[in-house]
Order: sequence, then structure tokens, then C-alpha cells
Amino acid sequence: MRLDKLIEAQFKTSKKQTKRLFLSQQVLVDGKMITQENKNVDSDLHDIQVARKKLYTHEHYFLMNKPKGVVTAKSDPKFQTFLDLMDKEDRFEELTSAGRLDRDTEGLLFLTTNGQLVYELSQNKKKVKKMYEVQVNGALTKEDQLAFEQGIIFYDGTLCQKAHLDVLYSSSCFSKGIITITEGKRHQIKKMCLACGKKVISLKRLSIGTLTLGDLASGSYRALTTNELIELKSYFC
Ligand code: URA
Repeated sequence: MRLDKLIEAQFKTSKKQTKRLFLSQQVLVDGKMITQENKNVDSDLHDIQVARKKLYTHEHYFLMNKPKGVVTAKSDPKFQTFLDLMDKEDRFEELTSAGRLDRDTEGLLFLTTNGQLVYELSQNKKKVKKMYEVQVNGALTKEDQLAFEQGIIFYDGTLCQKAHLDVLYSSSCFSKGIITITEGKRHQIKKMCLACGKKVISLKRLSIGTLTLGDLASGSYRALTTNELIELKSYFC
């Protein structure tokens, strides 16, 4: 969470009093004096000392294997949501997803109460790699691979960043591949394939940066391990 918000919550300080703590060099993270008030911190990753007192955060981080049919939302009048798949005690109000999956897409969702981290992971300039397993209704070709490397242009003229297509199987009516992208436009994979003349018939997200789906069963979720959280430390800006 934001360092200034943590201080305000723990010391019940006003914005002005919080600022004064930063200016008087009383805010230390991992032993270093910090002036960046909005720095993202987690006491599982950082040693946070303010006015000689150690502070603790209480963020939550989960990986979920979203099944098809479930929406990436916390409430929906019609469809099951990711929150519906979680135990009552894990349904934290601040929980958000780092990147959405369409209702008919399955696979990895990263859910956290740390909104700052979600923001950092979704910044296109951070170039966080997202891998998708895709099945399409035609042949995935060398020309398609080249088009992905050069940057696909959607039918509406939108230019995508360079991406990567690995072809696992290809025939005239069905192909399977792995697509790696570093941005998160709406319906991006479907539109990229459409720009190559193919319709996506099945889509599954396998990874987001260092986070991978592994053998997490469809519809289930788990808390991040300490190592998985440590691997995200560079995104705590
Ligand atoms: N690209 C899509 O087209 N759909 C998703 O759900 C995710 C990426």
C-alpha cells in the first residue's frame, strides 16, 4: 500500500503531519530514508520504520484459474464473478484483478488488495509479459509470426506493440499457439488473430510476468507464495 496512507492509518496523522514525517527524515524503508510519499510498500517485502516504529501492512495476493463463463468483476446481475468463486473470508472489498479476462477466456487472474501494484503491472511501459494459449479456426503461418514480431495492426488502425507467436500445431482449419504480449488492450488476442484472418475459438492465459498458472485447477485459487511475492518486488515503485 502507499506509504503515506499507511502512516496516516497507523499514526492517525493529517496529510500535513505525514508530510512532516517525510521531511524530517523519519521514514525509512529497508534502512533508506524515503521522500517518495506514494511509494508502494508491503511489510512482507520491506522493513518499514517510521519515527522509530516498525509498521505492518495487511495486503492480500491471490492467483485464480478463472473458468470460462465467469466474469472478471466483483458483481454482475447475470453471470458468476471471480468473487463468487472465493471463500467468504477472502472476499476483501479492495480486491481487484491485474488485467481482465473476457467471459469466454479462461486462465490466470492475479487478484490483490494492493491497487498500486495492479496499476504498476498494467502500465504498458513496464512491458510485463502475458502468455496466452490460443486455438484458432485456420492455419497459423510464418507470415503471421512475422506480423506479430513487427506489430499487428487491428482493423480499426490501432497499432500493437511487438509480440511473439509460437506455433504448436497448424492445419488449414485448426491451429494452436502461444502468444506473448506486453500490453493489455481490450480483446487484444482476439483482435490480433482477426487481423491475421483467424477467429479465436479458445483462449487461456498462462502467465503474467513471473506469475504462472501451473497446475492450479479450473475454478480454484490460492494465496501467492513468499517467493512469488518477492519476484514482484521490482514492481513496488
Ligand atoms: N485477449 C483477449 O482477446 N481476451 C482476453 O480475455 C484476454 C486477452
